[in-house]
Amino acid sequence: MAPLTTVLALLSLLGGHVAHSDSDFVTVGANHLHFQAGDSSFVPIGLNIAWPDKHSGTSTEDYYEEYFSDLSASGGNVARVWLGPNLVDSFNPLALLRHNYTTVDPAAAGLVDSLVASAEKHSVKLLLTFDSFNGLCPSFASGNCKWGDSVYNSANGGPLNSQVGYLAFWTDATAKKAFKALLKFASDRWGGSSAVFAWELFNEVDLAGYDLPFGFYDWHEEMAGYLRKVDGGRHLITESFGLVAGNKFVDGSDSFDFTSTHNYARTSRGPQSPNVAKSNAGWSKDKTNWYKKPSIVGEFGCDDTVPDADANFRHTLHAGLWSPIFRGGAGTGLSWFWAGEAMDDDFEREWFLAEFRSYSKFVGVVGAELGARPLGDVPFEELSVHVLESSGASEGGEELDAFGIVGEAGAVSLIWLHDAKDTCGSDTPTRSFEGVQIWLKNIPDGDWKVTWFDTETGASTEETVGSVGGLTITAPSFVQDIAIVVSPII
Ligand SMILES: *[C@@H]1O[C@H](CO)[C@@H](O)[C@H](O)[C@H]1NC(C)=O
Repeated sequence: MAPLTTVLALLSLLGGHVAHSDSDFVTVGANHLHFQAGDSSFVPIGLNIAWPDKHSGTSTEDYYEEYFSDLSASGGNVARVWLGPNLVDSFNPLALLRHNYTTVDPAAAGLVDSLVASAEKHSVKLLLTFDSFNGLCPSFASGNCKWGDSVYNSANGGPLNSQVGYLAFWTDATAKKAFKALLKFASDRWGGSSAVFAWELFNEVDLAGYDLPFGFYDWHEEMAGYLRKVDGGRHLITESFGLVAGNKFVDGSDSFDFTSTHNYARTSRGPQSPNVAKSNAGWSKDKTNWYKKPSIVGEFGCDDTVPDADANFRHTLHAGLWSPIFRGGAGTGLSWFWAGEAMDDDFEREWFLAEFRSYSKFVGVVGAELGARPLGDVPFEELSVHVLESSGASEGGEELDAFGIVGEAGAVSLIWLHDAKDTCGSDTPTRSFEGVQIWLKNIPDGDWKVTWFDTETGASTEETVGSVGGLTITAPSFVQDIAIVVSPII
């Protein structure tokens, strides 16, 4: 009998979930850009559903069951869910250490059991985040900092001195042992499930203790190594940062399998473009180039610390959700959720589901062109997209973002044109681009199928075009953005 089968059977006896075949676990494709589940592409399509909406009037179990059911029916396949912050009486009922640092709360673990079961049932995969910076920064730093409530604070029976003890989290032997116990608990309980896409150690860990406290890097190496060991290497491991650029020592470490960007176009930590679509794509490109590993946008939105920055909010989200894959990102940007806050929950959900319906159709078009070959098997490079002319756009991309990637020998190209004036705080894009002509320099000579894809409705039109010295094509008229798939006619 295969040892893995034995282990999984044992885990399910111990209260873990019955595993799917191990071919459902997510791995990194050979191109170091895309994910796979077994031999199939796994293109993450989803959002944060970090905790249940308190105002929804449904139980936590029903909230996730219904949301995952809707998500899956609309072509979505990923949710980022927090298992923290680990605060006494944490606002998140899924926070595992919610009374003390020694013992996982059985009720919270039971809720996580139920959402993992719902995820399995609906083929949704979970990016599970163990903790968040909130418990490890002092309340004077920001309203989101709650060191006074941390389970690690000695005032709450924790091992760390109540004054500035949060700085010692990374080195204190008792705190480290407790965090390892948390990792082991989660891995024993849910690690058998292929519904776990990946483990994330912290939400925005750099906001805990001013970015770089003593021991921070050693802690990351030690915890990721320990988690990989107890998890048997079944799941990918990542880490997230509030700083949009991430952290090159953690992101670049072999202990972490992919990078996750959080982008809120916030100016408080350096200049950031309100064109979230462009920056989501740009960071995806930079990080994949730097680290040779997949990149996701794990959270994004507009700058909620600036008045009126959320004008044009939904259009910005639409564009930020679409843009990363056209510069080598692994899937949709995973938007933040605003359940019970900025957007009405029912409306918000319907809005996201409509986005996922059209995006998953797009991924379906790409998949059909590749046949049985998963995306992760195709080496991609940047495709230079030259805008030759258009009524609404000036040459050079000032008016139009034009991104693309091309697979080896033109296997498939993914291209995106976007109104560059569509940003956080801008007016809703209404101008129509007519007759935009683009030249795709590195498309080999031959005959090509060009699919023009309406990102809002999911409708597409096809044409056949021959190329000599690059491919020149003319877009149908569009507003805000249009996606294009180019594939060889064999
Ligand atoms: C710690 O929390 C657990 C789970 O919530 C609880 O059962 C236990 O009594 C707590 N231990 C102490 C010492 O408070």
